[in-house]
Amino acid sequence: MFMTLHLEKQEHTRNNKLLAADVLANSMSQTFITLWLLFVVNTTPGEQHDRAIRVDSHPLHNTPLKDAPVVVTVNLQQSLNTITDHFIGHSLGFPNYGVHLAAYLESRKLITIARALSPMWVRMAGNFVSGPPYKMSRGPLWDKMNHFFKTVGWDQIHVLDDDVHGNNGSWSPDKARVLVQYSAARNYSIAGFELGNEYDVQSQHDNTTLTPAELATGVQTLQTLLGEFPKYYSSFITGPDTLFVLPTFFQGFLSAGGQKVVRAATFHHYYFSGLKATLSSFTNITIMQSLAHKIDKAMAESRSVNPLLPVWLSETGSASAQGAPGLSDRFVAGFLWLDKLGVCAKKGIQSVIRFVFYANDQASFGLIDKNLNPNPDFWLTVLYRRIVRGAVFLATGRHDVRVYAACANTDNFKAGGLALYILNPNNYPVTFDLPQFTHQPRFRYSLTAGDKDGLTSKYIALNGEKLQLVNDELPPLEPESAPPGVVTVPAYSYTFLVFPEAEVSICLH
Ligand SMILES: *[C@@H]1O[C@H](CO)[C@@H](O)[C@H](O)[C@H]1NC(C)=O
Ligand SMILES: *[C@@H]1O[C@H](CO)[C@@H](O)[C@H](O)[C@H]1NC(C)=O
Ligand SMILES: *[C@@H]1O[C@H](CO)[C@@H](O)[C@H](O)[C@H]1NC(C)=O
Ligand SMILES: *[C@@H]1O[C@H](CO)[C@@H](O)[C@H](O)[C@H]1NC(C)=O
Repeated sequence: MFMTLHLEKQEHTRNNKLLAADVLANSMSQTFITLWLLFVVNTTPGEQHDRAIRVDSHPLHNTPLKDAPVVVTVNLQQSLNTITDHFIGHSLGFPNYGVHLAAYLESRKLITIARALSPMWVRMAGNFVSGPPYKMSRGPLWDKMNHFFKTVGWDQIHVLDDDVHGNNGSWSPDKARVLVQYSAARNYSIAGFELGNEYDVQSQHDNTTLTPAELATGVQTLQTLLGEFPKYYSSFITGPDTLFVLPTFFQGFLSAGGQKVVRAATFHHYYFSGLKATLSSFTNITIMQSLAHKIDKAMAESRSVNPLLPVWLSETGSASAQGAPGLSDRFVAGFLWLDKLGVCAKKGIQSVIRFVFYANDQASFGLIDKNLNPNPDFWLTVLYRRIVRGAVFLATGRHDVRVYAACANTDNFKAGGLALYILNPNNYPVTFDLPQFTHQPRFRYSLTAGDKDGLTSKYIALNGEKLQLVNDELPPLEPESAPPGVVTVPAYSYTFLVFPEAEVSICLH
């Protein structure tokens, strides 16, 4: 068990160990004991506590229904959410992963890749102030990173996570002040701050963490600190950045005063542990739907405290524990990533921050790999941002497929256009009948495995063309014009469809 845990992503290892130690050493609540047992059974830091998954009917095999077209209707009268240009963000995961990027910050290739994801939140965690061996606050790396962010147009959210130690349960802003002062003097832009990471699964007894009420006091102290600096006076704070959305911590923080300070209530999500994942985990609709239940819970808790407070998924990926080797960086990972974007959009989440941008050798969940080559999820992210923007609509589908709808991005399409994205995670093709748009012209982006490795391909193909950088530049990523009528989505593929002439009134302004 602990061997297994030992292999996990560093913070989760720490979390699990401390949680286990807590349960053993202290008589904690039944909730936490249950939680711990679930960790033992599943070693999955993401979802154990709300395994009460609604089981949709299983995909039908060898039945006539599977061959019948899926009739999709989109409710264009009501917008469920708004996808902004900051809907997707990503994380740099210092020091474990991101620190290796330091060597490439002036690389034209990296700058090209980063600009393709701009503007975007970049959530920076790491011991920039005090923690050895990354004493960077006065060091060149902090300067270089800030220069890089400005160059590529990334908007930084900085996690203050290394300095909540040894202060008897309350947060002292002394170390944060060093970073803030230094950065203000150099005019570094820091859009937002976060205090602490996943304190809900860290021990309450070793002085390294804060209770929900202490964290709520902590963010007030941070707000006061930022108020001293004109540069950061209007920077926002998010929290509590919990792994779980239990009333004890997530809601507890908000109701203890956190909601008055934070711009968004934040939580984290992984579908499963990378150590347990199998290929079929990535195309499993029950697993996809598990996120919807976690979001419902977070929304209910947050809204019970403050109905207007935005909710963000501030750290998320397919698999924790550094990702699932040979899966999280392959074509198949796109099913969970695209579905996550769809579920979050539909459920009203304002920002989804992917962990991580860059992954070194030991991790497989990066948008790009250690040689700065894009993984399939990078291309999917770029396409999503180019195609989808604005109001989100409810679309009907069928139990064995996933269908999402939103306005088409007016940077690239006429105002009033509609974008659909459809996932077919099955080993059979599925035909879609779109009665509202039967005669409409449409553009199609069909995304399939990039080579003969199929689902585990390192590549993704757009309309049959394997996507790769060309001389360190992005290819054009053009759609094809598709004929009117029904649409067939191949087995194990996902497709964006844009109806540029749809003249959806909510998408016109
Ligand atoms: C720690 O906090 C407790 C409770 O607030 C207080 O009684 C105690 O004196 C504090 N200890 C130190 C070393 O500050
Ligand atoms: C500081 O940065 C802001 C943008 O974040 C810019 O508008 C301003 O001109 C900069 N000020 C100086 C003195 O460079
Ligand atoms: C926690 O802080 C108290 C008071 O400063 C100290 O006596 C105690 O040794 C600390 N515990 C740990 C585990 O560091
Ligand atoms: C999908 O995942 C659920 C929950 O983990 C599991 O019960 C089910 O058997 C899986 N379905 C398939 C087809 O693997």
